[in-house]
Amino acid sequence: MHHRTQLLRILADGQFHSGEVLGSELGISRSAVWKILKTLPEIGLDVQAVPRRGYRLSAPLELLDREKILTSSSLASSPLLSELEIHENIDSTNRLMMQRAREGSNSGHVCLAEQQQEGKGRRGRQWISPFGSNVYLSFLWRFTEGAPDALSTLSLVAGVTTARVIENFGLTGVGMKWPNDILLDGRKLGGILLEFAGEHSGPCYIVSGIGVNYSMPTEAGIEIDQPWTDICSHSNAISRNHFTATLIEALLLAYDKFQAKGFEPFMADWQRLDLCRGQTVVLQVQDGHIIGRAEGIDEQGALLLKTEDGVRRFSSGEVSLRTMR
Ligand code: BTN
Repeated sequence: MHHRTQLLRILADGQFHSGEVLGSELGISRSAVWKILKTLPEIGLDVQAVPRRGYRLSAPLELLDREKILTSSSLASSPLLSELEIHENIDSTNRLMMQRAREGSNSGHVCLAEQQQEGKGRRGRQWISPFGSNVYLSFLWRFTEGAPDALSTLSLVAGVTTARVIENFGLTGVGMKWPNDILLDGRKLGGILLEFAGEHSGPCYIVSGIGVNYSMPTEAGIEIDQPWTDICSHSNAISRNHFTATLIEALLLAYDKFQAKGFEPFMADWQRLDLCRGQTVVLQVQDGHIIGRAEGIDEQGALLLKTEDGVRRFSSGEVSLRTMR
């Protein structure tokens, strides 16, 4: 384990630790400890130094813990989980999983990170990914004998499943903005980015990236270009590791079900969570925008908009929030 990781594991409790004790626990000098501490603001962590008491983080952290994740769920024995890798700092978990897929990894290979340097959002945006505070998760799924027809609905499956997990932890006011924005009281709580490679009608794989704001530091939140919220603003009793484990388990089960039965088992939940249905919305498309009344989705997951020209279907685009709440 790197010295910085060891140090963060000690400081994660939010208590004071003297430079001397930190040094002896890591087997390094006090000045080496100080050098590492100086780098923590770079990853968005605020360290307080108080004479005679030592150092502490301004807020405790619950770092990702492989054992806790495996044991706080039935993941350890799940045949659907082929591998779990946890990174401290990575460019993007999606990018890594696409690489793992090319290297031959199996379905159910899951990657988590404490921080992403270049977290990818939809439509070329950056996904703000500060250290130790949110959930950044990607996993691989292979369709060997040809994907189900409605593969385009898979991102809705990921969204609905994530929203349901959040609801099951007791949060209310959760909804989906087509195609896969997870909102709570109209503010963004999570997002999904699917990346695809292969043949639609033959062997292919999909990397599903899920980002959920768990406890977004205020300074990092300033960089987000839309209203946002996080889980800890609505409940302080949810463990980050337990939440992550539950989410992974639910997603793997959902994809397994989708592979066998398609989107149909998820439709009722989608309809219940769909925030657009019945609303007049603005859909940004490549060459402008379209205003219409959202009429739900078709079996391919495309958005149905009732416009002046009748009901039109859209398989991509960004629904504007302006008229929604
Ligand atoms: C969106 O813009 O709503 C989609 C955001 C998806 C973010 C997640 S975080 C884990 C995974 N790795 C990435 O680089 N992006 C996705």
